[in-house]
Amino acid sequence: MVKVDLEGCSSFVKDAEYQKYVDKALAALDVLENETGAGNDFLGWKHLPTRTPDSLISECEAIRDSWKAKGVDLVVVIGIGGSYLGAKCAVEALSHSFASRLSTVRNAPEVVFAGHNLSEEYAAELMDLMQERNVAAVVISKSGTTTEPAVAFRLIKQYIETRYGSSEAAERIVAVTDAHRGALKSLATQEGYRTFVIEDNVGGRFSVLTPVGILPIVLAGFDMRAMLRGAAEMEEATSRRDASNPAVEYAAMRNLLYDNGKKIEILVSYNPKLQYLGEWWKQLFGESEGKDGKGIFPASVSFTTDLHSMGQYIQEGERILMETVVTVEKSRRSVTISSDPQNLDGLNFLTGKHIEECNAMAELGTRLAHIDGGVPQLSVAIEKIDEYNLGSLFYFFEKSCGISAYILGVNPFNQPGVEAYKKNMFALLGKPGYEAQAEALHERLGK
Ligand code: PA5
Repeated sequence: MVKVDLEGCSSFVKDAEYQKYVDKALAALDVLENETGAGNDFLGWKHLPTRTPDSLISECEAIRDSWKAKGVDLVVVIGIGGSYLGAKCAVEALSHSFASRLSTVRNAPEVVFAGHNLSEEYAAELMDLMQERNVAAVVISKSGTTTEPAVAFRLIKQYIETRYGSSEAAERIVAVTDAHRGALKSLATQEGYRTFVIEDNVGGRFSVLTPVGILPIVLAGFDMRAMLRGAAEMEEATSRRDASNPAVEYAAMRNLLYDNGKKIEILVSYNPKLQYLGEWWKQLFGESEGKDGKGIFPASVSFTTDLHSMGQYIQEGERILMETVVTVEKSRRSVTISSDPQNLDGLNFLTGKHIEECNAMAELGTRLAHIDGGVPQLSVAIEKIDEYNLGSLFYFFEKSCGISAYILGVNPFNQPGVEAYKKNMFALLGKPGYEAQAEALHERLGK
């Protein structure tokens, strides 16, 4: 269960001002709950935690078991943006840090990702890996037409067909896409792939609790039911129409700080397992709020690592920053610092302490230093990193994002700006239908 603490902002804002933003957040919550705001045909994510049928998870488990029976030890998940980041975040957060190098910890196939870039080297190296492993693939694209995953899938599909034959390939490939539209849907129907549907009313960056996230997370061996339980608790907690609603608290404060000149919000974690939470969160807030010339710029850091790279700027650079710290209260593993008779490193004062205690003091010390340096601190705490708490975090941030964007006055659920680069790329690559744009671009580039 997520807990929000705004004490680290108290020296930056007046209570009366905060109350005004709470009122704005409660009004925005009403718009979200009553489904009367912009983009209200994309609110299917709101009740996913409580309305996802258990049979969906069982279906994913059946695929996991059938692949296990074939000896599959590598699942390539193909997707980009919202069709990638949620699953990547969950797999990174929940996996052993050295899973791929430790034979003892794996009782599920390794899940790797593709189709989230256009790097030829990445594609070639993925092929190298596939040659050595027993491979299956999940291709995810809501539109079914996105270039990056389509390019990756063409390669991976051909590889699997060549190696295992067409009919076995159909057993080893699953598609997650729109119910009716898009090239991927047609291809999946023609090839006879098992298919999961992404409902029309759920946008990519809000889709982690649909088959987009559920299938890869189950395939990687994690407990999706616990994740949905954590999300369901937050579904309930964040629908409360009062100032103690954690999503209202968070959305109110970050908007107040934004209006007071804090234009950049940095999501901070002190556990490298949460690095991709930052990536997922950046897409969620960046794509939802960054429009009409407005929006907090979302950035992320992993401390204490990045205290040795970004710490200087955060402490003393331009004062346009706020930080949201994702605090993890308990470590799931225990390592204490031992005594050294020689004490040449001078660290004997730490003897017997858990490393996590040092991490907690680094977190507290940094928090105080950054407040002193003019950086407000919002805190979002979870008990530990597990499926339940990750589900809570996903839902908490999604709900906060909807409320926050409505306070800002933008439609949280569209992304018109993402199209601009695609049009130029298609024109430059000579896609049929883009001839006029190609001519204009070549003239502009002087070629
Ligand atoms: O949030 C979004 O809508 C986007 O980031 C999409 O998820 C991303 O562009 C991938 O789209 P698709 O799933 O249609 O391939």
